[in-house]
Amino acid sequence: MDKVKHIALLTSGGDAPGMNAAVRAVVRRALYEGLEVSGVYHGFRGLIEGSFQKMELHSVADIVHRGGTVLRTARSEEFKTEEGQNMALENLKKANIDALVVIGGDGSFNGAKALTDKGFPTIGIPATIDNDIAGTDVTLGFDTAVNTVVEAVDKIRDTATAHERTFVVEVMGRDSGYIAMAAGVAGGAESILIPEQEVNYDDVCMRLERGYKRGKVHSIIMVAEGVASGYEVAYQIKKRTGMDTRITVLGHIQRGGTPTAKDRILGARFGAKAVDLLLQGQKGVMVGIKGDEIVTHSLSEVLSTKKDIKKELVDLANILSI
Ligand code: F6P
Repeated sequence: MDKVKHIALLTSGGDAPGMNAAVRAVVRRALYEGLEVSGVYHGFRGLIEGSFQKMELHSVADIVHRGGTVLRTARSEEFKTEEGQNMALENLKKANIDALVVIGGDGSFNGAKALTDKGFPTIGIPATIDNDIAGTDVTLGFDTAVNTVVEAVDKIRDTATAHERTFVVEVMGRDSGYIAMAAGVAGGAESILIPEQEVNYDDVCMRLERGYKRGKVHSIIMVAEGVASGYEVAYQIKKRTGMDTRITVLGHIQRGGTPTAKDRILGARFGAKAVDLLLQGQKGVMVGIKGDEIVTHSLSEVLSTKKDIKKELVDLANILSI
């Protein structure tokens, strides 16, 4: 492969806090190396439409602390087609772009892999609040989302205690229970329902009743959206115990907000490493973090591996919420 001279970057799929920190790092690391950099607006749709913008040092000023993504994001059905991908490749060629950094989740990596399979170099940066990507301990945005949920749960607990109520809190995560598990442990939830484990409503009710017999006056049930809606969980509890609950669906507030320092640093490290990999001539690779080390895995390996929740944390959650 000829030496990379001009790189592009895009953000795709659900936005995640820390994406901007990664955008800034890619742009600045690349400019530091004397590369030309183009931002692609609206994810893969922007590749098809040719929405490219030359990026300078000032293009990424004042964004490290902002949630969302300055490049905007989208989920593109058209890019899933052969025709869409070929149009994207034509536009990249016309703009003299040699390689692409894709910041997003597994859907975005399918797109990146499709381009690499057609011979165009791509590097993936895992960014999704769901933390459902294999090959990395954490994805960009997960830490901020968990902190957002914990802050909300702390507030809910105040009113739950005041009224001696049980609350069901529904959180995001798509098919993954990472957010529910982490925020449930950090927020002291009495039950945590995740898709990775069979749901046992009798056990949830047993725990509630056991708590009330011991004089516990409030409870928080954390449910990942991949299990059921908060309303369904409330219905199952009412059916078994007659108990009324209140339901909070946290929704998209989990995706917004100022990224934590952890997510900003992770974004910076991922972004810089992505550029280094392209300069080394690598392609079809995702950056990740294992412990405190930045690691790399092929996109094919990442996409064909399911990330499981640590059993140790699940067991601990059960013990601590006794
Ligand atoms: O993947 C991130 C995520 O926020 C999931 O947790 C959630 O299921 C989904 O995106 C929501 O997508 P949308 O913003 O399209 O409603």
